[in-house]
Amino acid sequence: MDADANKIAALRRGEVPFFEPHLEDLLADARDNLSFTTDYSQAIPEAQVIFIAVGTPTGVGGAPDLRYLEAAAHGVGEHLGPHFTVIVNKSTVPIGSGNWVGTLVRERIQRNGAGGAKCFAVASNPEFLREGSAIHDSLYPDRVVIGAGEPKTAEVLYTLYRPLLDQTFTPPRYLPRSDRLGAVPFISTDLSSAELIKYAANAFLALKISYINEIGQLAERVGADISQVARGIGLDARIGTQFLHAGVGWGGSCFGKDTAALIATASEYKLEMPIVAAARQVNHRQRERVIEKLQEELKILKGRTIGLLGLAFKPQTDDLREAPALEIAQRLLERGARVRAHDPVAMERFRRERPDLDVTLCETAEGVARDADALVLVTEWPQYRELDWEALAAGMRSPIMLDGRYVLDRVRLARAGFRYVALAG
Ligand code: UGA
Repeated sequence: MDADANKIAALRRGEVPFFEPHLEDLLADARDNLSFTTDYSQAIPEAQVIFIAVGTPTGVGGAPDLRYLEAAAHGVGEHLGPHFTVIVNKSTVPIGSGNWVGTLVRERIQRNGAGGAKCFAVASNPEFLREGSAIHDSLYPDRVVIGAGEPKTAEVLYTLYRPLLDQTFTPPRYLPRSDRLGAVPFISTDLSSAELIKYAANAFLALKISYINEIGQLAERVGADISQVARGIGLDARIGTQFLHAGVGWGGSCFGKDTAALIATASEYKLEMPIVAAARQVNHRQRERVIEKLQEELKILKGRTIGLLGLAFKPQTDDLREAPALEIAQRLLERGARVRAHDPVAMERFRRERPDLDVTLCETAEGVARDADALVLVTEWPQYRELDWEALAAGMRSPIMLDGRYVLDRVRLARAGFRYVALAG
C-alpha cells in the first residue's frame, strides 16, 4: 500500500520506480504473491504482520520529520482486523517511536469505538540494506534485529524470518547464495535497543569513512599512500577492511540523516555527541577539498569548465539524495565555473529533481571531457575505470584528472597524457 497512485500504477505494470539491480526480476518472480493498492482498507484488515516502511527525512533542527509515519499509523489503526496483528517499524525512526506508533494506533481504534475487539503489538525491525545491493543484503543479511515488548510478538517475526535465518529458501537465479553463508544471527531485544542499534550502526559506518578521510589528510602531508594505509589497518580483523575507502565522503539518504537524528535525540537528553559531530564535519570538509584541489591546479575557477564523472551518491543507484556530486557542482557554480556531468543511470532523475543546478549533462564521458579544464571522478561506477583515456585527454583543454575515489590507475592515466591528482596525496 502506498499513498502515491503513480508509484502503485507503475508497480502494477511490473515497473520499479527507481533503479536497483534485479528488483524488477524479483518483482516479476513474486508477481503471484503480490498485489498493490492505494487503499488501506484493502491492505490492512487481513494482515497478520504490517511493515511500516515510509520515509523519515531530516526535519527542522536535525530531528526526523515523522509526518509520514504518523499518517501510516493512523491509516493502520483505522483498518486493523480483529485478530492479533504485529505492526513493525521498518523505517528508521527515532528512539521511542515504537511506543508513539502504538499510541497513535490505539487512539484511532478507540475513536472508531472498537477498543476491546482489537489486539495488536508494535515491533521494531531495523533494516541494514544498502542501496545498490538491496536484494543481496535482504536475502543474505549479517543479522536480523527484532525489538518487541513481549515474547509473543518476537515469536511471530521469528516465524516470518525463519527461511532467511536458516537460509532454507531457494535463492533467485541472479543472486546465488555464497557457500560461506551459514545461519543468520537473530537478535531479539526490547524496542528502544533495536531502534538504537540502527542509528548506532549507521553512525559507526559513517565514523569509519570520516576517520579514513581524516587520516587521508595527514597521509597527504607526510607523503603516505592512503589506499595502502587503509588496507594495512583494515586487515586487522578488529578493524575490518570494509568502509575504509577514502574519498569525497559519504552521501545518500541515511548517514547524513541518521547522524543528525542521533545528535538531535542526544540533545533532548542534554547529551553531546562530539565523535558523531566530528564525523559530519570531516565529511563536509571532503567536498571542500575537491574545490581546493582544483584551485591548486587551475589557480582560477571562474570561467573554467569542470567535468564530473558520476552524479549518484554511489554506484548501482540513481539516488541523488545528499550526493557529493551535487554539493561539488553547487560550490563550483558559486565560484563561476561551468559544470558538465555524466552518470550511467542518474541523469534522468537529475533533470527531474535538480533543475535549479545549471549543469550540462552529456551522454558520454567523452562528452564531459570535451574542452574541459579538469575532470573529477565523483562516483566510482565500474565503467569509469576503463575509459579510452587517450581520447579523453586529447579532447580536453588541460588533461587533469582528480580521482575523488582512489580507483583509477595513476600510471595508466599518466601514460595517456593526464596529470593525475588524488584527493589526498
Ligand atoms: C547505508 C548503510 O550502509 C546500510 O547498512 C543501511 O541500511 C542504510 O544506510 C540505511 O540506513 O538505509 P546506503 O546509504 O544505501 O546504506 O549506502 P552505503 O553503501 O552505506 O554508502 C553510503 C555512502 O558512503 C556512499 O556515498 C558511499 O560512496 C560512501 N562510502 C562508503 C565511502 O565513502 N567509503 C566507504 O568505504 C564506503
